[in-house]
Amino acid sequence: MDRIRIVGGAQLNGVIPISGAKNAALPLMIASMLTDETLQLHNVPRLADVAQLLRILSNHGLDHGVAGKRPGQSAVTGQSIRLRARDIIDTTAPYDLVSKMRAGFWVIAPLLARMGEARVSLPGGCAIGTRPVDLLLMALERLGAEIEIDGGYAHARAPKGLKGNDIVFPKVTVGGTHTALMAAVLADGTTVIENAAREPEVVDLANCLIAMGARITGAGTSQIVIDGVSRLNGAEYSVLPDRIETGTYAMAVAMTGGDVLLEGARPDLLQDALDTLQRAGVEITPTNEGIRIKRNGHGIEAVDVTTEPFPGFPTDLQAQFMALMTKARGTSMIRETIFENRFMHVQELARLGAHIRLDGDLAYVEGVPRLTGAPVMATDLRASVSLVIAALAADGETTVNRVYHLDRGFEGLEHKLSQCGAQIGRISGH
Ligand code: EPZ
Repeated sequence: MDRIRIVGGAQLNGVIPISGAKNAALPLMIASMLTDETLQLHNVPRLADVAQLLRILSNHGLDHGVAGKRPGQSAVTGQSIRLRARDIIDTTAPYDLVSKMRAGFWVIAPLLARMGEARVSLPGGCAIGTRPVDLLLMALERLGAEIEIDGGYAHARAPKGLKGNDIVFPKVTVGGTHTALMAAVLADGTTVIENAAREPEVVDLANCLIAMGARITGAGTSQIVIDGVSRLNGAEYSVLPDRIETGTYAMAVAMTGGDVLLEGARPDLLQDALDTLQRAGVEITPTNEGIRIKRNGHGIEAVDVTTEPFPGFPTDLQAQFMALMTKARGTSMIRETIFENRFMHVQELARLGAHIRLDGDLAYVEGVPRLTGAPVMATDLRASVSLVIAALAADGETTVNRVYHLDRGFEGLEHKLSQCGAQIGRISGH
């Protein structure tokens, strides 16, 4: 297994290109199954999760082609993928494919909408919490699906097609909103989703579906209205920039000091996180090319955060922010409200010398003047990059094990950081 080796202490200076958003690319790829025509997606990040989803979709009969690099394009500037599900040859998504990636469960919506049937393995347990799918299934039932859970599979049927209806989510769910949207676009009549997720990735999915001929209003607000259509067409669509990658590198620069342009980043996608960083003493300047992050001389101040659905501080940046706070002046209080078990990075950060005390959904992070390098273990995608951030500012050498977590969600991580002066490299394992 590969490992990442980091020697801390170098400032980051230069330009980091921001990739297309993983969490937007995945639902867009799944949406391609709603039509028998071609959906062409641009700015798709080169990630293990994208490759895994292609395997899942191929199993249902999807053909795909990845366009080669254009002249002048670097390996980290995203790829263009043509997806075509002319015929759905199988409506079962098996355990061995879906268990590797939770978003794979979302195929239930297009399969059901287009074929009137889907048998999808329930996603496996996930390190950050129980992450049930009850709300996704509730949404499909509201649209008239009959659902049975049997042998670890959700078996959904709507032989006469789905029917528009009201769907009221008791809590905000991104996956639930994606699922409801994809099912409702081909349903008969009007669907109103209440308490919908307002995440930018939901807006990206809605915009892509609109380009495919769907009739959707209100995406980005908590009420989305969908007028079902009888069929969708192909389209060409470009994935939005990754706000979590943007926030991650912003925190890395805040941690090491330096001056970096996050090229292609959009401040409106993570305003709350940028405001938080500014309160911690980081200089943030939106420019025509992206967002410039700068910290010189003075240290980082402790700031409290609570994770919330968009537009609040994202849970997917909580671990990275905690890494930053390990070297802040004072004690920061971090509350995780989205997932019940998303503090696994705490133990590993402690191995680098961080002082963190946990109390239920709260972490008290007492800043220390220095961290020291050590071997650490990545536990999930965002937790593992928080270890990279801490290691960049730790004295000496850190090795991060189980790097496959990073490869799921960060395109060209070592390349992007080393271009800006970090001492970081991959050690190939066996
Ligand atoms: C998406 O997961 C993201 N994944 C997550 O990013 C992200 O952390 C999360 O949204 C919150 O922003 C992708 O987009 C692929 P939810 P999702 O449904 O859709 C509970 C990353 O690192 N819930 O909004 O699975 C759930 O347990 C990943 O890239 C139910 O109770 O998240 C959680 O507490 C990690 N029942 C809360 O809702 C359900 O049926 C929000 O989850 C569904 C969810």
